[in-house]
Amino acid sequence: MNVYDSNKMIDALIPHGFEVSDDIENADLILLNTCHIREKAAEKVYSELGRIKETSIRRKELGLKTLIGVAGCVAQAQGEEIMRRQPVVDLIFGPQSYHRLPQLVERAENSRVIDIDFPEEDKFEHLPKAQKSVTIKRGLTAFLTVQEGCDKFCSFCVVPYTRGVEQSRPIKQIINEAKTLVGGGVKEITLLGQNVNAYHGAGDNEQTKTLAELLYSLAEIEGLERLRYTTSHPNDMNNDLIAAHRDLPELMPYLHLPVQSGSDKILKKMNRQHDAQQYIELIDKIRMVRPDIAISGDFIVGFPFESEKDFEDTLDIIKKVRYSSAYSFKYSPRPGTPGALMEQQVPDKVRLERLYRLQELLNQQQTDFNVATIGKTIDVLIDKKGRIAGQVGGRSPYLQAVHLDAPEELIGSIQKVKIISGDKNSLKGGLL
Ligand code: 5AD
Ligand code: SF4
Repeated sequence: MNVYDSNKMIDALIPHGFEVSDDIENADLILLNTCHIREKAAEKVYSELGRIKETSIRRKELGLKTLIGVAGCVAQAQGEEIMRRQPVVDLIFGPQSYHRLPQLVERAENSRVIDIDFPEEDKFEHLPKAQKSVTIKRGLTAFLTVQEGCDKFCSFCVVPYTRGVEQSRPIKQIINEAKTLVGGGVKEITLLGQNVNAYHGAGDNEQTKTLAELLYSLAEIEGLERLRYTTSHPNDMNNDLIAAHRDLPELMPYLHLPVQSGSDKILKKMNRQHDAQQYIELIDKIRMVRPDIAISGDFIVGFPFESEKDFEDTLDIIKKVRYSSAYSFKYSPRPGTPGALMEQQVPDKVRLERLYRLQELLNQQQTDFNVATIGKTIDVLIDKKGRIAGQVGGRSPYLQAVHLDAPEELIGSIQKVKIISGDKNSLKGGLL
């Protein structure tokens, strides 16, 4: 979502005479977009700001002025603290203020500005469209935020505090943005939301629509070949969405459905509101309608009270589900969340050791999933030149990276590719 948000900031500034620079030493305005989900990401903000400060000093020596802004969820959660700890920062603004960015930058020319309110107006209504030339440059696949915020309050997670309550964009607004993307050459759209399958945006006549209904509407857009969505909560995986995985050819056979832990005790403490068996049954139901679907997940190890037995339950659920890929994290206590106040925090050494064991299993499953594709013929959306001359790269329906020998003219098309080899990270194939 931060990639999407950063693009929106750029789109908001371009009409005001800004252009994107690849070279920080040449930038009159430096915006740092930030993530608050884990401590490591949040702490990185201060080291990055230290580097940005050095750049601004070098530029000052050359007689150049630099405006420095911090955006995103760390700005939202720790705006005052950033201002205090790093005097070089001119502007702080949260995720709900991106549409006001041009005015904020103008104000920051004169004095330090902090804007972390949750405004009444719909920011998406006020954000300008990306210019066609800009969309073309961004490539064939794009993100599109359809929902923001979350009401689930998992006890480890800061999202409900930083991104606020769950809000869905109206269907029409999303369709219009998707059409603009497709007009700029986009072939694949990934719908984004912190809790995307809880989507319930306004349709015509004020009726709310589900994510499945939104997907069906988007699939009608001529030229839009592939749809994906992320991230989902198991409890919002409704029957109509499962059926869409069976019936909608544009919806790719890939599902990111985090379970976080395989222990019922820990799931309860995490306030996930389902148990391990319910998750397994849900996966079975989805595989019944779409047997080849690639399942991906998120895992947290070392949540408070996690015993060796609880951790082994997580290894067990992974073995049962067989993931195509996954993200895994050491538990990071976040300020203001119930998890941070729980007794029996797990020592860091134990968290780290469990993370290694978990990742060993997940890496093996990812390799197994990729190796199982060898010999099969799959559709690949070719979207870039390869690293080696004469090669191009793309993505399989299951989101695997695929390389093949083929002419560059095929970039932008979907081709049948026979997979000849594969390892943990990618597949190699040949045009059929
Ligand atoms: N510590 C570690 N991982 C976390 N995540 C969210 N909050 C925390 C935390 N406090 C992980 C979850 C979530 C993903 C986006 O980040 O696995 O699904
Ligand atoms: Fe955070 Fe996801 Fe839980 Fe919402 S559902 S609180 S975003 S982990």
